[in-house]
Amino acid sequence: MVRVHLELIGRDASRAAKRGDVTVIVDALRSSSTIITALSNGARGIIPARTLKEAIQLSERHPEALLAGERNMVKPPTFHMGNSPLEYARNVVLGRTIILTTTDGTKAIKLASKGARAVLIGAFLNASSVARASYDLALKMKADISLIAVGKKGNFALEDFLGAGFIIRRLPNVQKLIDSALMDDSALWAYYSAEIAEKNLKEVIYQGEHAKKLRAFGLYKDVEFCSRVDIFNSVPILEKSILVEYRIP
Ligand code: MLT
Repeated sequence: MVRVHLELIGRDASRAAKRGDVTVIVDALRSSSTIITALSNGARGIIPARTLKEAIQLSERHPEALLAGERNMVKPPTFHMGNSPLEYARNVVLGRTIILTTTDGTKAIKLASKGARAVLIGAFLNASSVARASYDLALKMKADISLIAVGKKGNFALEDFLGAGFIIRRLPNVQKLIDSALMDDSALWAYYSAEIAEKNLKEVIYQGEHAKKLRAFGLYKDVEFCSRVDIFNSVPILEKSILVEYRIP
């Protein structure tokens, strides 16, 4: 019996960690989408870092790695790359290790890593694959699933909530999970909201606060890209502090 929980804010990744759940971190705009794109384009692995300082220290230990991330949507000076998934093209990332620190996404990953049975990365881009992988892992590990809608700076974010809903809708046997009362109310809310948003997803995402900020900042191509559904099969999983590609058996 797999139960499905949805946490509506990044810091509650610690609740999923306490439960020992298979945990899916959803930061659709943009860190989850960036990580998925990087691995899909052949990056060797991504080391998430909580702070700028930690990222810089990690880069001293891994001088071959690309140092990447953002604060307030902007690439920190001296970093090689920002947090736009469009920067993570195959010719840039193939075979490379990337150290990534972002305002909210990588913090939630680090929180989940303190106890979660597995930490996966999900977004619209890989909704079907991450749904299947999380369900398979939960069955195998006899664990529950938690989705974390990361949000922005401690606040709820529409696109992460809907991203979680898209993943929940793609879980195998999802109707059975609902009928057997195995989904919490937040997960059910996202499930039904995603059904409504599916008809005009881009327009709905564009109305969200963070999408508006990114677009006003000139990053409208990022928002458009991150709103695509199921364009990648790649499922990033945290293994020994590095995000690598999970191979679906
Ligand atoms: C984050 O992790 O807070 C985000 O990915 C912010 C951003 O859009 O760069």
